[in-house]
Amino acid sequence: MVWYPKTDMKDRIKRFAHCVNKILLRHHLALTETRDQRGRIDLADSLDYIRYATLERAAYEVNLRKVRGDIAEVGVYQGRFAAKMNQLFPDREFYLFDTFEGFDERDIAVETQNGIKTLDKHREAWRDTSEEKVLGVMAHPRNCVIKKGYFPETAKGLENKRFAFVSLDADLWEPTYNGLKFFYPRLEKGGYIFIHDCAGSNAGGALRKFSQETGVPYLMLPDAYGTAVIAK
Ligand SMILES: C[S@@+](CC[C@H](N)C(=O)[O-])C[C@H]1O[C@@H](n2cnc3c(N)ncnc32)[C@H](O)[C@@H]1O
Repeated sequence: MVWYPKTDMKDRIKRFAHCVNKILLRHHLALTETRDQRGRIDLADSLDYIRYATLERAAYEVNLRKVRGDIAEVGVYQGRFAAKMNQLFPDREFYLFDTFEGFDERDIAVETQNGIKTLDKHREAWRDTSEEKVLGVMAHPRNCVIKKGYFPETAKGLENKRFAFVSLDADLWEPTYNGLKFFYPRLEKGGYIFIHDCAGSNAGGALRKFSQETGVPYLMLPDAYGTAVIAK
């Protein structure tokens, strides 16, 4: 057996995961439906094949079944995932929630209460973005409604909206929990909520608490960071 130093091993695993991703992308059509080209998007630039391909299939079902409602993402950053959502739902109003200034101290305080340590590098992260940057990567920027500021405060005024697809990708416990509480009752039948980063205890903890309190079930995807999917 060959012995590798720890960092070298990590690098090898990362490279291996990257190769698997590439193989999956190359065979994407064969893995899902072969003939039906409707609702397909280019996944070559997606870092996580399973997550993005699942988004593509979920959007296909929502559009095919004519599920009504808008779409939303909490935690947009530079709009990588949001751009794909915008492409897949070209006719729907898209609400984009972010502070555009990184994490909020109020949310970090809740992490601490739950015994989760927030690293300094995470406190400083996600600040290199702007509304203009996000709108610049959208295929249909006219559909986009930017909700800048602290979620859930920025959801005020949207109480009567209905949603067909929601992505919760704010990383932390509090905005994930608040996102589930706000969006689940407003999700149309046939709609989906994707919750990213549930492999960790922050978003994952919030999801489990919400599920325990409400009885709402979820499915965990075997993707890079543990996306959970709630279907209504
Ligand atoms: C992991 S990043 C989002 C990544 C993005 N979805 C992508 O595809 O690259 C997390 C984002 O959530 C935002 N965020 C976290 N808590 C928030 C809150 N309470 N209100 C608004 N935005 C929040 C941060 O500012 C950050 O931009």
